[in-house]
Amino acid sequence: MADNPNIPSKVIRNDPWFGSYAKRAEGMRASEIRALFAVANRPEVVSLAGGMPYLGRMPFDELADQVADMLRKQGQVAWQYGSAQGDPHLREDVLQIMELEGIKDAQPDDVVIVNGSQSGIDLITRVMCDPGDVILAEAPNYVGALGVFQSFQVDVVNVAMDGDGLIPEVLEQTIIEQRKAGKQVKMLYTVPNFHNPAGATMSRERRPKVIEIAKKYHVLIVEDNPYGLLAFDGQTYPALRSYDSEGIVYMSSFSKIIAPGMRVAWMVAPPGIRQKLVLANESAILCPSNMSQMTITTYLDNFDWKSQINDYRGMYKERCDAMDEALKEYLPYCSWLKPKGGFYIWLKIPDGLNAKDMLPRAITAKVAYVSGTAFYDDGQGADHMRLSFCYPTPERIREGVRRLSTVIDNEFDTVRLFEPEVGTGTRKERG
Ligand SMILES: Cc1ncc(COP(=O)(O)O)c(C=O)c1O
Repeated sequence: MADNPNIPSKVIRNDPWFGSYAKRAEGMRASEIRALFAVANRPEVVSLAGGMPYLGRMPFDELADQVADMLRKQGQVAWQYGSAQGDPHLREDVLQIMELEGIKDAQPDDVVIVNGSQSGIDLITRVMCDPGDVILAEAPNYVGALGVFQSFQVDVVNVAMDGDGLIPEVLEQTIIEQRKAGKQVKMLYTVPNFHNPAGATMSRERRPKVIEIAKKYHVLIVEDNPYGLLAFDGQTYPALRSYDSEGIVYMSSFSKIIAPGMRVAWMVAPPGIRQKLVLANESAILCPSNMSQMTITTYLDNFDWKSQINDYRGMYKERCDAMDEALKEYLPYCSWLKPKGGFYIWLKIPDGLNAKDMLPRAITAKVAYVSGTAFYDDGQGADHMRLSFCYPTPERIREGVRRLSTVIDNEFDTVRLFEPEVGTGTRKERG
């Protein structure tokens, strides 16, 4: 390798395997969020960056007793290998959760337990897509899904969304254009509820339209729904899977409604795809962890999980309100859609400012966010930032937005020094 004149010697010194990697690994990069984590988690920084659920209200003392009891009685199962499809008890339990979003026909055999929905996104892409195939996805897109899609060398084609989610007419047009260009459009990956990062929710009217279009062109819908039970007003939207069982792979997770540490999520798929998912799960991990799954079933069986989720909804609503109020006060010249649930506000900053360039200055001012560029794979998004309200208290959120406003204000002044026309008429001067 050292003799290869095309490889700079500096790179070889740093990584003796440079040049040996599979093509699929070449595009792998630490996500902008991962790179941020170390600094953003310092106590003096108000982090509006991560999507960590707040776990301070979990009944850990009681849960510890129940889990200890479970281990005493069933330790030999909990610490043993299990089924590649997942624990039958848990597969039965998740049916009750899905019923809350209108999925009433699923059977335990339709369910596959996976290591977090992140793993589910990986498995379905592995099963469905060859390099060069097209996956349609909302723009902006969940950053973790983008990473998976890149690693499988598929082409991610953006479909525009607005406050009511994916726009059906644009979806159809995009499929037609891609087919004309000779591309195989394999899947539509969508986060219909309280989208990460856009905060938008697909309207009830659009849901059947999207399904109809996908059916018409034989495009599989992958419905990723980790936030669906976290509506601030307690209402749920019918899952896309509740309209159709053949054309949709549904995915949900315990990460946001209970806790992410167990890494337990589930998928529901039509029989052919389900079989492949089980095989792919087996080849990736042999089986999901029995201990994790049994910890979750212990929780579900012994605690009032519905009121726990209700409690979380109330808490996240309060935090979202706090962020919305603080934004109105400190950053009135930015724009955003106030979400009806979930964890995120997608903030549009004034034209001429660049969220990615500004980030080091924000960290210096002790506030962190994720630049909108993380949610596109083509460099777009610098005019947006994702602000998470899930983890900090309302007081910290307020302080974080105040700090952010000083950074944006300064940035604005600096940019206008060089380009006086930037943002003209958009900035509302504060008295
Ligand atoms: C839309 C979406 N899908 C999947 C995930 C990953 O969830 P899990 O912890 O179940 O892997 C997240 C986490 O933030 C998410 O926002």
